[in-house]
Amino acid sequence: MGIIILGIESSCDDTAAAVLRDGKILSNVVASQDVHRQYGGVVPEVASRAHHENIVPVVDLALKNAGVKKQDLSAVAFTRGPGLIGSLIVGTSFAKALALALGIPLLDVHHMQAHVLAHFAEAPVPNFPFLCLTVSGGHTQIVLVKNHLDMEVLGTTIDDAAGEAFDKTGKLLGLDYPAGPLIDQLAQTGQPVFDFPEPQVPGLNFSFSGLKTSILYFLREKSKAQPGFVEANLADICASVQDRIVSILLKKLRKAARQTGIKEIAIAGGVSANSGLRAGLEKMGEAEGWSTYIPAFEFCTDNAAMIAVTGYFKFLNGDFAGQDVAPTARMEF
Ligand code: KG4
Ligand code: ZN
Repeated sequence: MGIIILGIESSCDDTAAAVLRDGKILSNVVASQDVHRQYGGVVPEVASRAHHENIVPVVDLALKNAGVKKQDLSAVAFTRGPGLIGSLIVGTSFAKALALALGIPLLDVHHMQAHVLAHFAEAPVPNFPFLCLTVSGGHTQIVLVKNHLDMEVLGTTIDDAAGEAFDKTGKLLGLDYPAGPLIDQLAQTGQPVFDFPEPQVPGLNFSFSGLKTSILYFLREKSKAQPGFVEANLADICASVQDRIVSILLKKLRKAARQTGIKEIAIAGGVSANSGLRAGLEKMGEAEGWSTYIPAFEFCTDNAAMIAVTGYFKFLNGDFAGQDVAPTARMEF
């Protein structure tokens, strides 16, 4: 039968479940919560309620797609944090109840560690030690990955995350939430003709709030002088903003690689789905002599396969959680 892990992810606005057998993905189901679009961002209380509605059918479908009965499960892995506490409570409570009912162990998973380990969902896998630029809606980190469960954050954002920079720019441009994928799409038909300033942040840390402010002032000024400026130049504005966000990310990643001498370089998290970042990484990788690793799209944004994969490594390590485990909104590595 092998080791069969059910993974559950509910940290933000996606309810997800996946089944893994001996490290291989059998199913991967995500129910995205479209309900937040009308509010221009994730409403925590609405997210918790949607998780509550989604979790049983999503887990059911993941088991069905995998051809696995719940009695066959070896353990249940779930996202313990970081994330929205109300959302985390739904996944955690469900995982605890299921594990208790089935008499199987629980595996608590760190969401950001799971984004990194999404690289082990399928080949090719990076060699240790590697660097991972983890870029999502809530986090921006350069992580030194020593082995599956031993990671160190070398740099992080001092204000907004990279995904937030995309989403907040989208709001200024009147785009729907989440704006990252839309900006990516629009950027492909535009040119980066507008120059937004690059923040000067020491070390390997990032800052994106200054960029957001400069975009706001730029749009205000241009729209005053030329009504309809945004509509007429939307693709070029998107290409310019994306270009700057990508250059900020890749410059710091190159700095980290040169400082550590590591040439195994990965990206992960929702923003790693960005076509500009993916292409930019390949180009920089060629120039720097890196081996680069980019996850398949389904493993970039929030998913439960990465939770099940992380749970699998914890299972092999005998690193289980007790029934007294509680979710936590903030969580260090
Ligand atoms: O990892 P993720 O799904 O959820 C969090 O843990 O936050 O990341 C979501 C973020 C959002 O900010 C979204 O706008 C961004 O990832 N995103 C993108 C793209 N696809 C998703 N940003 C830029 N380009 C994309 N193609
Ligand atoms: Zn995430």
